[in-house]
Amino acid sequence: MNIKDILEKNELTKEDLVTLMKIDNPTDLDLLFKKAYEVKAKYVGRKVYYRGLIEISNVCIKNCKYCGIRRDNHKVERFSMNKDEIMQAVKWIYDNNYGSIALQSGERQDSEFVDFIEDIIREIKKLSNGKLGITLSLGEQSYETYKRWFDAGAHRYLLRIESTNENIFKHIHPQDKKHEFQVRKRCLEFLRDIGYQVGTGVMIGMPNQTEEDLVNDILFYKDMKIDMIGMGPYILHKDTPLGQEWEDIVPTTEKRVELGLKMIAITRIFLKDVNIAATTALQGLDPLGREKGLLAGANILMPTATLQDYKGKYLLYDNKPGIDDSVERAKALLDEKVKSVGDEIVYGEWGDSPYFKRKNS
Ligand code: 5AD
Ligand code: SF4
Repeated sequence: MNIKDILEKNELTKEDLVTLMKIDNPTDLDLLFKKAYEVKAKYVGRKVYYRGLIEISNVCIKNCKYCGIRRDNHKVERFSMNKDEIMQAVKWIYDNNYGSIALQSGERQDSEFVDFIEDIIREIKKLSNGKLGITLSLGEQSYETYKRWFDAGAHRYLLRIESTNENIFKHIHPQDKKHEFQVRKRCLEFLRDIGYQVGTGVMIGMPNQTEEDLVNDILFYKDMKIDMIGMGPYILHKDTPLGQEWEDIVPTTEKRVELGLKMIAITRIFLKDVNIAATTALQGLDPLGREKGLLAGANILMPTATLQDYKGKYLLYDNKPGIDDSVERAKALLDEKVKSVGDEIVYGEWGDSPYFKRKNS
């Protein structure tokens, strides 16, 4: 069957998805992206929602082998924003009428950290009269911790599964109790049971990751009833074990960007009304990455509102874009980009995924 026929089908099989993931000629790629944009327009609208991202700390107890802020990277200067600094960034996001905020940091599970986050969530709710939506991206936690943060007012949580191929998962993490696939998966289940809108995602374009692996990742999103997806290409970080091991075997930049865009497009076509982010990592490999992501079906952008002093220290991978831009400049650039694509920016709304509402109705 040719690509056109597959794209016209109502129900796609796994085999169809793999065929789409293997597309490598410009004509068919174009058809794929056009179809994905059509599905986006129909199911979530030609609209883009912003999540103001604050990277509150690069302290991390984990040692993921791909990540620049892993515990054993002693070259990193560690920082943790204090409450005033965080609230200053929150205020900027609120004043600029972004509907939601996302708090991200390296992982910590100590009680001081858990209390601190709970307090910050309540402060954000207070500052915005409950208006700012709050997304957390703070790693693996206990059910109780997730519940406390939910009760304090957070309503979305991002926790990437990184790869659903368990051999890849094992290869990219240390072999210890702190880095287990099943634990990560159980966390996603906790989050869903508590009532969060749950986001996950994977890294794309790792050596030995096949098209079928990526399709399995999409099937996992469906099985796990995932509401939001944030995924992007893998990017080397030179001071990490994989940055060195993979230096010569990682797929080309073009290939990783193309795979990243295909993942967005196929996920949009298959899952229809979920939220999908065009991530910074995509832009990290292609200056037009985020625009291309929107055209391939993404509808969420997460502009960073981290204070200037700290931006250069939250480096998960090399050549992270935008770390020298002021928040104002980053906003102006992004507004321009969204308009260039023909999408409308929606201000002042939470922008929940229609799928989350449909699932619960
Ligand atoms: N390249 C791309 N993405 C990365 N992440 C961490 N390190 C890298 C890297 N080198 C992503 C992971 C993690 C998220 C916070 O950032 O998917 O879940
Ligand atoms: Fe820590 Fe997240 Fe980086 Fe892993 S990916 S080392 S948990 S910040």
